[in-house]
Amino acid sequence: MAYFSPNHIFFNTHNTMPTNAVALLILSFFIQLLALPQTLAETNIFSGTKYLYPEILKDEAVTRLIDLGKVSDAHGFLERTFQSPASVRAGNLIQEWMEDAGLRTWLDQMGNVHGRIEGMNPSEKALLIGSHLDTVIDAGMYDGALGIITAISALKVLNITRRIGRLRRPVEVIAFSDEEGVRFQSTFLGSAAIAGVLPVSTLHVQDKSGVTVQGALKINSIDATEENLLQLKYDPKSVWGYIEVHIEQGPVLETAGFPLGVVKGIAGQTRLRVTVKGSQGHAGTVPMKLRQDPMAAAAELIVLLESLCKQPDEYLSYDGQCMDSTVQSLAGSLVCTVGEISTWPSASNVIPGQVTFTIDIRAMDDLGREAIIYEMSNRMYQICDRRSVFCHIDRKHDANAVICDQGLSSDLKSAGYAALKRLTGENPDDVPVLMSGAGHDAMAMSHLTKVAMLFVRCRGGISHSPAEHVSDDDIWAAGVAVLAFIETHIN
Ligand code: GLV
Ligand code: MN
Ligand code: MN
Repeated sequence: MAYFSPNHIFFNTHNTMPTNAVALLILSFFIQLLALPQTLAETNIFSGTKYLYPEILKDEAVTRLIDLGKVSDAHGFLERTFQSPASVRAGNLIQEWMEDAGLRTWLDQMGNVHGRIEGMNPSEKALLIGSHLDTVIDAGMYDGALGIITAISALKVLNITRRIGRLRRPVEVIAFSDEEGVRFQSTFLGSAAIAGVLPVSTLHVQDKSGVTVQGALKINSIDATEENLLQLKYDPKSVWGYIEVHIEQGPVLETAGFPLGVVKGIAGQTRLRVTVKGSQGHAGTVPMKLRQDPMAAAAELIVLLESLCKQPDEYLSYDGQCMDSTVQSLAGSLVCTVGEISTWPSASNVIPGQVTFTIDIRAMDDLGREAIIYEMSNRMYQICDRRSVFCHIDRKHDANAVICDQGLSSDLKSAGYAALKRLTGENPDDVPVLMSGAGHDAMAMSHLTKVAMLFVRCRGGISHSPAEHVSDDDIWAAGVAVLAFIETHIN
């Protein structure tokens, strides 16, 4: 008797069983269904879309991105800096989602959240997948979060379909605690610690309120000593490679009409803090000729920076220090920005005594970036001398350009291709390869292992803004691509 067909259960006139026995059979049928997540996963739940898992890789991933995007220290906009209350809440949420995906989880002494599955060979080299949980101020909700959530979702699919235990190597998702460097101006606090390239002195760097990195961790009951910071470093022999999914943050993929792209390399970056000190005074009484105004000096310095970075060839000398090829490569990738400026005191009827501002310089050519910093510093000090103000340039952060691993990138490209083919049922065009002007945790992780990145198209190329947007379908495509990539590590 086919009890599993609803028609037979309720309308079989030949059934001579007592009613309570039928009820028991029905109950046991539902119990069996619950005990068979694999069958369910591949039939009912996923609506017949066997390899696409829209309920997890699309619907749930989108919901989680929205939920994480609400975890903010500010009212009305998204802000989550290193070890802030919201970043702790975000870490807890991510840890819950990792556990829901069947991963063993822990929080480390730099505030990174880890979720790991050992697979069949716990002593094999691990595949690491990560991105960051911190944000800029007035951020979008995809930068960082997209890479964490797509990785967790892909592993959740493997867990539900009971394939997670067949992984040939451990897979570990890491939600890094700091990539933006907003609070301490020292980016990659989390990933640099794992890669073993974070100087222990970083623990004593202070934020604007004088709280140190160590102090910020301590407030959240994390005991970060120099000794346990050194212990966070992963043994390179225990790691197979690192991949990161990230919103593109630029317009290339949208212009190409393609949802996914593979990153060839990541621009190097330097962050500086410039302090200009002048003579504080009365706005109405000090004659223009007698002023040592740090605000006017800062304005000239900022315009110098812009001119230099727009036309580096006009400023850099060819006298053997800077080669022609360097100048040419700079012309293609050099970008320089002043993103933060503050004055003290700050009032409309006062000539301020001090102005500080930040400089962010990026280029694919590390030598060229150094040449720009050298030239810019010389010219800035000359301007300050001419204006009789004191200037100091403090180097806060450096990261050299990174070229992604060719083999790993090619695997990721194939996964992207496979994902688009699964989703459309057609052979897609070749997945584009592009450069990244933005910094990523992959830069720090490249000191530990081979790295590769998958970019996801965003609307209007906008990022570091609440207008940042990735379509639900592109999130889905990214999730399917991560899944396809991890599947190549399954027996
Ligand atoms: C990270 O978002 C960066 O500043 O590049
Ligand atoms: Mn980012
Ligand atoms: Mn960012």
